[in-house]
Amino acid sequence: MTTPIPTPHIEVKDANLIAETVLLPGDPLRAKHIAETFLEDVKQFNTVRNMFGFTGTYNGKEVSVMGSGMGMPSIGIYSYELIKFYGVKKLMRVGSCGAMQPNLNLYDLVFGMSASTNSNYLHQYKLPGTFASCCSFNLLQKAVNLAEKKEVPYHVGNILSSDVFYDDDNESWKKWAKMGVLAVEMEAAALYANAARAGVDAFTILTVSDSLVTHEQTTSKERQTAFTNMMEIALEIA
Ligand code: HPA
Repeated sequence: MTTPIPTPHIEVKDANLIAETVLLPGDPLRAKHIAETFLEDVKQFNTVRNMFGFTGTYNGKEVSVMGSGMGMPSIGIYSYELIKFYGVKKLMRVGSCGAMQPNLNLYDLVFGMSASTNSNYLHQYKLPGTFASCCSFNLLQKAVNLAEKKEVPYHVGNILSSDVFYDDDNESWKKWAKMGVLAVEMEAAALYANAARAGVDAFTILTVSDSLVTHEQTTSKERQTAFTNMMEIALEIA
């Protein structure tokens, strides 16, 4: 089979320009910042829709970083093309989340062991029930070991991938919180489903950027730069 590259959303003529491991921040400018701050020998591989993608090395290991955009349709498109057409085997979302439990503090790390969702994304598989989107145990285990070693505050558990940021019912999150869900974000469930369907590894590391419980917030400037622990863990397990 000839591989139909470049794909509609990633303009790469040679699949080898993308590493087998791709980090996926939501914001393409954060992808640029990560590449410039943490990687060596960086080459840009994508500019389509300004969804910048870069490949470089971290401690000699080849790794790519690319924006995923916001929401499940967006990460669904990029992760599908990366897996199916560019041979990517490990995909790690790095992003922010809103805490739904009182013991989560701003800047704590959250490892998304599983991702519940209010989205219809998984209906495409026509499963005779409800799929539990979960991460790669291997990546989770490595992340936990590193967080312990670095003595970084972290939480492991179920997260909510929501289709809605501005919810008409501003109390609806409490129902997920009652089920022990740790935090809300907008992408992991689609990433995990695409990875599961293709038999590759996916993982999500989040930093708490705000709390639905206490209404505390970080500023976007802090969010842009204060994620070093998250990035080091993601890059070390890449
Ligand atoms: N909701 C959804 N996604 C988020 C939030 C939130 O409160 N905070 C950071 N990402």
